[in-house]
Amino acid sequence: MSMVKLDLAKADAKYYSDEAKRAKALAIREELRQDKEDFTGWVNWPTELPAEWMSDMKRVADDVRSKCDKLIVIGIGGSYLGTAAVIEALGGSKPGCPEILYAGNNMSGHYLADFKAVVEDNEVCLCVVSKSGGTMESRLAFSVLKDWMYEKYGREETAKRIVAITDPKKGILREESDKEGYVTFEIPGNIGGRYSAFTPGIMFPLAVAGVDIDTFVKGAKDISLDEEFWQEGIKYAVTRHSLLEAGKQIEVFEYYDPSLRLIGEWCKQLFGESEGKEGKGLFPASLTFSTDLHSMGQFLQEGSQVFFETIFNVLKRDKDVTVPASAGADLAGKSLNEINAMAVRGVMAAHAKADIQMIKLDIEEISEYGLGQLLYFLMMTSAVTGKLMGIDPFNQPGVEDYKQEIRNLLGQ
Ligand code: PA5
Repeated sequence: MSMVKLDLAKADAKYYSDEAKRAKALAIREELRQDKEDFTGWVNWPTELPAEWMSDMKRVADDVRSKCDKLIVIGIGGSYLGTAAVIEALGGSKPGCPEILYAGNNMSGHYLADFKAVVEDNEVCLCVVSKSGGTMESRLAFSVLKDWMYEKYGREETAKRIVAITDPKKGILREESDKEGYVTFEIPGNIGGRYSAFTPGIMFPLAVAGVDIDTFVKGAKDISLDEEFWQEGIKYAVTRHSLLEAGKQIEVFEYYDPSLRLIGEWCKQLFGESEGKEGKGLFPASLTFSTDLHSMGQFLQEGSQVFFETIFNVLKRDKDVTVPASAGADLAGKSLNEINAMAVRGVMAAHAKADIQMIKLDIEEISEYGLGQLLYFLMMTSAVTGKLMGIDPFNQPGVEDYKQEIRNLLGQ
């Protein structure tokens, strides 16, 4: 069953009813499924993922859980955002599982100094995730934290507490892992960072946090094979592309629960790095409602209409609060989740008056299964929209420029 439903009732039909574009988008999806291009390995990966990879990840995750109360995940961009987004959406690590902490996603000495102080008295293991193995942020944090672990545990024990996830064959992390004897997992060569949600790079730390990774992958697998779903679901890519052609420049991802904030960050990375090329692309932004209605709500309602909205509307939540009598007769006795659902309707009604184009994604529930479906759906949407735009959604040539400038300044 599909956990994601596309609701285009608040978008103008001219943006989604172009049948020729829909047919083209479906053909692009078909082509992607042939997996004949560079970096399209992710498309069928949920079906192809070897069973022994799953059991190996779970076995090593058990071992890590027995050794530590904090797992430090070092990685940046596609090499950590999926992990952080899923864990945050699910409400943190499961009871009895280590807390997952993140390093190597910035170059701030202040952050890393504070980070070391936070983990000082804990039992830690470290999972370093880098497809290339050479990313500056990950290298820096890995060397600093590894040195700190040498002092705490000694070199031999440290090596037993490190899991490295990288390219199967190349890169300095692969070389070091082979030399030092770290446990390793692979990010398959034909899968890039932001499309790696169902690889060990994301799923191994999820397993340590107690996330049911079998169900997570099953969500992705089921939606990837659901032909009926894609007949309708492909319209998200079609609508985004038509809105871009009509002059919209920004897609604002909106959610009504702060636990989805990192899903918003994950979307910014997926869509921004995949589509912003050759002078084209939608700038992805994200807002938490109702929090940001008290700031950006003004801009959305009356500001320059360079944007359209994509609303993540979660239908079922497993926790709720009833408003007590002290809140006043108009609110007393109501469920907060129901009030939040009314906020979705109310905000959409207000924005419709301002003629804002809105795409609603109804998400049945935030669970391992639902998140697996959602992430895969968004990955496919990004790839198909990129192809409709005529760019390569799987490279990131622009990212190299700033890296080179930093290397120049460091005299490398
Ligand atoms: O999507 C991407 O390719 C990037 O965001 C990468 O994930 C990020 O730059 C980290 O790269 P690496 O895993 O090689 O360290």
